[in-house]
Amino acid sequence: MTSAYEMSTSDLIAEDIEAYLLHHQHKSLLRFLTCGSVDDGKSTLIGRMLYDSKMIFEDQLAALEVDSRKVGTQGGDIDFALLVDGLSAEREQGITIDVAYRFFSTDKRKFIVADTPGHEQYTRNMVTGASTADAAIILIDARKGVLTQTRRHSYLVSLLGIRHVVLAINKMDLVDYRQDRFDEILADYRAFAAQIGITDFTAIPMSALKGENVTEPSSKMAWYAGAPLLRWLEDAPVEDDLQARPFRMPVQWVNRPDLDFRGFSGLVSSGVIRPGDRIKALPSGRESTVARIVTLGADLPEAVAGQSVTLTLNDEIDISRGDVIALAGQPPEVADQFESTIVWFDDEALLPGRPYLMKLGARTVTAQVAEPKYKVNVNTLEKLAATRLELNEIGVCNLSLSAPIAFDPYVANKDLGGFILIDRLSNRTVGAGMLHFALRRSQNIHWQAMDVDKAARAAAMGHKGRVIWFTGLSGSGKSTIANLLEKRLHAEGRHTYVLDGDNVRHGLNRDLGFTDVDRVENIRRVAEVSRLMVDAGLIVMVSFISPFRAERQLARERVEAGEFVEVFIDTPLAEAERRDVKGLYAKARAGDLKNFTGIDSPYEAPESPEIRIDTTAMTPEQAAEAIYVWLNNN
Ligand code: ADX
Repeated sequence: MTSAYEMSTSDLIAEDIEAYLLHHQHKSLLRFLTCGSVDDGKSTLIGRMLYDSKMIFEDQLAALEVDSRKVGTQGGDIDFALLVDGLSAEREQGITIDVAYRFFSTDKRKFIVADTPGHEQYTRNMVTGASTADAAIILIDARKGVLTQTRRHSYLVSLLGIRHVVLAINKMDLVDYRQDRFDEILADYRAFAAQIGITDFTAIPMSALKGENVTEPSSKMAWYAGAPLLRWLEDAPVEDDLQARPFRMPVQWVNRPDLDFRGFSGLVSSGVIRPGDRIKALPSGRESTVARIVTLGADLPEAVAGQSVTLTLNDEIDISRGDVIALAGQPPEVADQFESTIVWFDDEALLPGRPYLMKLGARTVTAQVAEPKYKVNVNTLEKLAATRLELNEIGVCNLSLSAPIAFDPYVANKDLGGFILIDRLSNRTVGAGMLHFALRRSQNIHWQAMDVDKAARAAAMGHKGRVIWFTGLSGSGKSTIANLLEKRLHAEGRHTYVLDGDNVRHGLNRDLGFTDVDRVENIRRVAEVSRLMVDAGLIVMVSFISPFRAERQLARERVEAGEFVEVFIDTPLAEAERRDVKGLYAKARAGDLKNFTGIDSPYEAPESPEIRIDTTAMTPEQAAEAIYVWLNNN
């Protein structure tokens, strides 16, 4: 298993470490991903490549030999899978369960391998591993051929825009290195791959275990004329791709050590830039020219994709973190509504209408996802109807953002078209996605300027608009108290309105029920209506259970600071159930009413409401009075 390049690499390390490191620094880097099922031989393959490229330290090697004798599945031989399966728990189960990144190198190239698990529930790890990969190796067991998981992995690989694909038909030793078996699998795969847009892939017959066609051409499969896997990995053309594309640099930070220097730092995502080039900053659209390309050492005559640099400009234009610098003649689009594909990672389903944080490049904005157009069954590629996305589901959805961003379609630029979604309350990364295109409607709808503004309306009303948002269980007393408060304010000549859950559900929200998805939409609409009412100068009392923190926060953010007053009508479930004014608790307990708040649908109590009313300690009149006093004092 030794070859010319391995020998020279390890000899060079031994003889002249300085020269080795220097040489190493200038080698190109290929990131690739391996996907296959638990026993397709993935870990063995990676272990084999690490071992044959001599990138394992000696002590690691010794440990491996001991381990192989202890727990290995290959008799006394070295079990390469043990090299890769880092965690001992995994070793004992004989499976790989998390993304493991490995580094190795040959004379020609450096490699980073993301080894991702083959289980259905680990779509997340696959997406994580694939998000930066240039190439993918899809492993197939020659005895089994194309399986459901092969299809699933291939679909994800294609979805994630990995253009260099190897179909590694492994375990050829177990089918006597027969060409007809290889051809059969290849034909099968080709038919499937065409359906998902993988038109260009390389199939290699191999035995990772025996080292056939991994680093060296196999003598057992003379019928195969192509390169062994490692040679393919060394030669796959990747970085030229990125340099040939339009220049893009998301600004990571604005570097301003003193008044004389102002630079914009970031990683060049694609293209090439030189001093003197005319640039455009997005989303503002302002232009300038590049003065210098500054790095830690000397200034550069040019910067290319993959380099981290600081640009200084010839004009003082306003650029902040998250903006994108592009060549003036080839700017990305700017938009705030998109069609996208979303891969959902979280146990809690994606709820259309709920605001999530979206991170794209160096930019973070708030995003609301519309009801999925469809979700995809990754095993059959069928498109299915969906109202939400569950763990590991993939769907096509429209997105609308809180602010316009500069973007490229994901297929053109992964950095400017790929994003993650973060839950605003838990801070968990809950999904990832790819932008397809901007919705044209967002470009054709503009803000219309009006001469009578909010301040003018407030002046005419004699007071400013406010949202007084009542939240609490059904039967907690929200509407009773809101009614008393409105009477009081109305009697004083204030301009008021009450939006009540039961009432609004007879009209505007007649189409909505009580699933989580519908409740999110219910509150989203009411938040928008109350925003309009505040803009009109009204004091609006909103009386909705509004069980979820995320949507109450959304409602708060739709108006200006100080305009939103959250009132928590705090009635314990037992007390609300004891009162049971509408008889609904009895129905819910009897099983005649599903998804009832507090019974089989959650209520998330406010953590820091402006006002908390304990209805077990005061009458509705006292509660209304307390809120009235609070409003007067604030
Ligand atoms: S919310 O959760 O979406 O904010 P909303 O305030 O509009 O609820 O409506 C709640 C009212 O609908 C309750 O006061 C009750 O009268 C009625 N209702 C009917 N079914 C349910 C249910 N499953 N859960 C809660 N309330 C229900």
